[in-house]
Amino acid sequence: MTTPDSQTAQRMLTLFSGAIKGMAFYPASHPAIRQPLLELDRIVAAALDRQNGLSWGILDGAMFFEDQLFVSPTTAIADLIILMQEKEIGRISFSAGLSLEELENFVRLLSVRGGGFDELQSGLQQAGVRRISLVRQGEQSFEAQPADADDDQEQGLYLTTYGQALDAIRNVCRDIERGRIPGSAAIIRVVDRMVGITMHDPATLLGLSMIKDYDNYTYNHCVNVGVLAMALGASLGLDAQNVRDLGIAGHLHDIGKTMVPKQILNKPGRLTALEQEEMKRHPELGAKIVREMVGLAPQVAQMVLGHHLHFNRSGYPAWARKIPFNRMIDIVTIADTYDAVTTLRVYQHPVNPRAALDQLQELAGTLLDKGLVTAFSKMMGKYPVGTLVRLDTNEVAVVCRPNLLDEESPMIRVLFGGEGQRLDIPREQALLQQDGSRYAGIVAVVDPLQKNIDVSRFVAGGNY
Ligand SMILES: [Fe+2]
Ligand SMILES: [Fe+2]
Repeated sequence: MTTPDSQTAQRMLTLFSGAIKGMAFYPASHPAIRQPLLELDRIVAAALDRQNGLSWGILDGAMFFEDQLFVSPTTAIADLIILMQEKEIGRISFSAGLSLEELENFVRLLSVRGGGFDELQSGLQQAGVRRISLVRQGEQSFEAQPADADDDQEQGLYLTTYGQALDAIRNVCRDIERGRIPGSAAIIRVVDRMVGITMHDPATLLGLSMIKDYDNYTYNHCVNVGVLAMALGASLGLDAQNVRDLGIAGHLHDIGKTMVPKQILNKPGRLTALEQEEMKRHPELGAKIVREMVGLAPQVAQMVLGHHLHFNRSGYPAWARKIPFNRMIDIVTIADTYDAVTTLRVYQHPVNPRAALDQLQELAGTLLDKGLVTAFSKMMGKYPVGTLVRLDTNEVAVVCRPNLLDEESPMIRVLFGGEGQRLDIPREQALLQQDGSRYAGIVAVVDPLQKNIDVSRFVAGGNY
């Protein structure tokens, strides 16, 4: 009995991942689905000819296929891991005789947003799929796992993606400093991974956008703007290609600053008029670099050029004000403004996320596109990710995920108990529990400085 080799296993997983993604956008008969499904069916059938069953899934956060482990996954496999973790799937087994119809039904069920393991199981049953069986995550072994282990695994994966994005930006900036045209492969790869996650659920990565590193402000700011712009674009229903361009533009929007002298960039006090003029060159310098980078769409350079033009086009560069721009630029501008006001900088206290939304509202119709501000506020919810709140149990918690169905009931992490004691391990808590009962209500927004905590350490995945 020979199991598929590593290359074949990788091809199967890639086709599988591609078919699921495609199914979210196209009908099953579309060539974008049909072609990978047919190839997948051929490979699976050939493998099942040689052995009775095929088993694959997730082990300690990594994909395994029979006895092979994919420790450094490709983008397609990483997307598949995320999807399977969302659906709480630990292992998938195909048995001999698996039909194309069963495979297609399985892919279709996996492409449905939301819904967990139980829905998937009953969907398979209803569709009469008998030759695919699933094992729930955490039930593969006899070892008991803590309830939040899956979530921690998932968050760990997102943090890895965030770290890869920081590295990609750092390398772009280093290339510019050395006078080279920066490579675009790394940034495209990491943004593609984020597109997969964001198209599936725009709110998933919002927690990452609250990661602030005061010493490396520029890099974090770039990644955060990319994440926020993609989330807004996806929640507006833009297609994957536009969400991808928004992500790349967000990540690269300030790279022109690399060419501004460091003493101006890092000056703590007010800039002189001359220094301000120098600083204001960063959008055009950035756009010029982006235009030279291989494989980026022209609208990416436009977004970089226009991110300080403002909705009423009163911004800079002045020569670009008359160029007709699309809404994509204003999406990046909103993401840029939100991240800037929620970040502590040498010359500025951070504004809590909820107050930041009020600030955006004040700029709506003039510097920012009113419709987009409304859409952004709706996406972030009444208590945006990163807001510190007091509950009616007197506990203090940080909001880590919005609840689009009930904005009063986001997902939170409790940091301080009812007696004011700081918890050793923050506890994730849904305000509205699965059985419909309410754990607690939010009574106030708390100033993180008053509690002396850096909320960003807790929103993106507990302690890191
Ligand atoms: Fe900028
Ligand atoms: Fe910026």
